[in-house]
Amino acid sequence: MRSERVKKVPPYLFAQIDKTEEEQRARGVDVISLGVGDPDVATPHFIVDELKSTAEEPENHRYSPYEGLKEFRQAASDWYRRRFDVETDADREVHALMGVKEGLIHMFLALIDPGQLTIVMDPSYPIFEVGTSFAGGETYHVPLLEENNYLPDLNAIPTDVLKKAKVMAINYPHNPTSAVAHLDFYRKAVAFARENGLLLMNDAVYTELYFGDFKPPSILQVDGALDCCVEFHSLSKTFNMTGWRIGFAIGNREAIDALSVVKTNTDSGLFKPIQMAGAKALREDLNSVDYLREIYKRRRDLVISRLSNVGVKPYPPEATFYVWSKIPWGTDSIDFCRTVLEKSGVIVAPGVGWGKYGEGYFRVALTVGDEVLEKAMDRLCAAIKGGV
Ligand SMILES: Cc1ncc(COP(=O)(O)O)c(C=O)c1O
Repeated sequence: MRSERVKKVPPYLFAQIDKTEEEQRARGVDVISLGVGDPDVATPHFIVDELKSTAEEPENHRYSPYEGLKEFRQAASDWYRRRFDVETDADREVHALMGVKEGLIHMFLALIDPGQLTIVMDPSYPIFEVGTSFAGGETYHVPLLEENNYLPDLNAIPTDVLKKAKVMAINYPHNPTSAVAHLDFYRKAVAFARENGLLLMNDAVYTELYFGDFKPPSILQVDGALDCCVEFHSLSKTFNMTGWRIGFAIGNREAIDALSVVKTNTDSGLFKPIQMAGAKALREDLNSVDYLREIYKRRRDLVISRLSNVGVKPYPPEATFYVWSKIPWGTDSIDFCRTVLEKSGVIVAPGVGWGKYGEGYFRVALTVGDEVLEKAMDRLCAAIKGGV
């Protein structure tokens, strides 16, 4: 029944994690999942209120423009100006998305032909590879190593790969490692993309989840980046809107145009009230989600200190709501996560789910309430202390 394309897709890690959670619950285990990054805190009220009031208007029940409401695209473009000092044309350089996951898949369909290559990082969000594969392309994996702060060595990419490659996909702040990129890296990456005729995608869904003085930049801040870069932004993580499905692609207009062709023939736009509420969120004071950063910072500090006490050395996160750590004893990440689950009822995510260079690591998501997190850390740390 299944197409070859679908047969090639590996099981989706988070669907597997959800399944494990259900199975354990069915067996009566009091499971706490720190596996999936899905914020526990509600969407801010002012956003929900905007959805409610705009949903009352019959005019808003009709199809949206394919590319998204002008109001939403303009809000996204203006937000880029205020947050990153980047100028974009809301009409030609911004496209609304039903979340970044959808946008990435469709962007690959829009750009990649069978036989072409996407350069992806390892470990990375699996959708870059799946999107390329759906389009009939192949992926070349560049290792991201802790000793390089999870930034790629672009010069190590072979020339024959570069000849076949059309797209390079990066993601900073990075899931799963929480690593961040500074502007000097983005400058090098943009120059590299330009030299090699690549379209550079940056999945930037975590830029607003930072903890200190360093505010993650946008790749579009690099001079000339609009010539060869597209960035993807989501309201999922910034405003606790994972279930709403709203984000946007912003950048190179040819790529946005190509995406628009795919989306015009695939979906018929997002529910207008969701876009109106999204526009309201983006127009709000940039500090409106400071309280969320405080929450994640507190949780991050708790997890780091508790793991450190049992000899685990987490990679220190400057952004995202993940803590990425080396497995404290000699086993693979799936086995580690299984053992920990059996002993503690706590689900953590195996690093190999993001690629072979994620092997040897596990990821904790900070998206459960503080009390639950405390309880989970008590149990997890006791299991780790007890060893294999
Ligand atoms: C790197 C990365 N990109 C995109 C997404 C999905 O974003 P959205 O909810 O907008 O589809 C996630 C979610 O976990 C992610 O980690």
